[in-house]
Amino acid sequence: MDQYRVFGNPIAQSKSPQIHQWFAQQTGQALNYQSELVELTDFEQALAQFSQSGGKGLNITVPFKEQAYSVCHQLSEYARLAGAVNTISCLDGKYVGDNTDGIGLVTDLINQQVEFSGKSILLLGAGGAAKGVVLPLLEQAPQSLIIANRTLSKAQAIADSVENYNNVYVCGFEQLKQSYDIVINATSAGLSKSKLPVSDIIFSEKSVCYDMIYGTGLTPFLQQAQQAGAVRLIDGLGMLVEQAAESFRIWRGVKPETEAVKQKLKQLLSQ
Ligand code: ATR
Repeated sequence: MDQYRVFGNPIAQSKSPQIHQWFAQQTGQALNYQSELVELTDFEQALAQFSQSGGKGLNITVPFKEQAYSVCHQLSEYARLAGAVNTISCLDGKYVGDNTDGIGLVTDLINQQVEFSGKSILLLGAGGAAKGVVLPLLEQAPQSLIIANRTLSKAQAIADSVENYNNVYVCGFEQLKQSYDIVINATSAGLSKSKLPVSDIIFSEKSVCYDMIYGTGLTPFLQQAQQAGAVRLIDGLGMLVEQAAESFRIWRGVKPETEAVKQKLKQLLSQ
């Protein structure tokens, strides 16, 4: 049976094996997908071992996405711009790297009837998570994309990487003085329960507020948005399932249905 893995450290929390098992059942594809805890110094060795044993593909998660980028023989445009790989296909001993996080985010937003054309997008954060979604967001032709970050130079570096787009702007959090149509949190502040130092003014009643992280109940960022009057609040569970669906499509040539899988995952998380 074709073998797939997700490599990470930690990995016990990963929902990917369950998601891919549901995809495989639904599409009638015979495959085995498991998680593997990889020691911090062993990534390349584990990858080589898996590939040499006939493994077909991998998802790569924290903290190995940048390392995966540097060992791939071939990269998609999304992976190249993100500087990070979350999907590897093992083909004749070569590693082909892709990054499906951005497509995952955009697909989830489109599924939720969010329109991009003529809209202003505020992206909070300029780390790996932000980098991975900038090009797919720009491809939706929003009116503007503002990247705001605590460390301005990192936001500027992302803007420089897409310099052929003339609707990308950068600023610090304290410079945000208006509301935006779509506000996306790509910072890791919520993981430590910290409140982002952003003014409530960025949220309006019409804003779509998206947090790339998810959990049970509203994330700290979505609570902040709700308290500021926003009503369209979406967490990253849909993005998680959509990025997995895109990886599955890359490997198997079949795009699974995601809605039922999202519902099942939600149910699993609430138990
Ligand atoms: P990831 O891969 O999850 O994006 P990362 O590369 O470490 O992780 O990036 C974390 C992002 O969250 C960065 O944009 C970081 O801001 P800096 O670039 O200034 O470090 C942001 N971040 C994390 N904690 C934050 C906090 N408490 N307030 C504001 N921004 C925060």
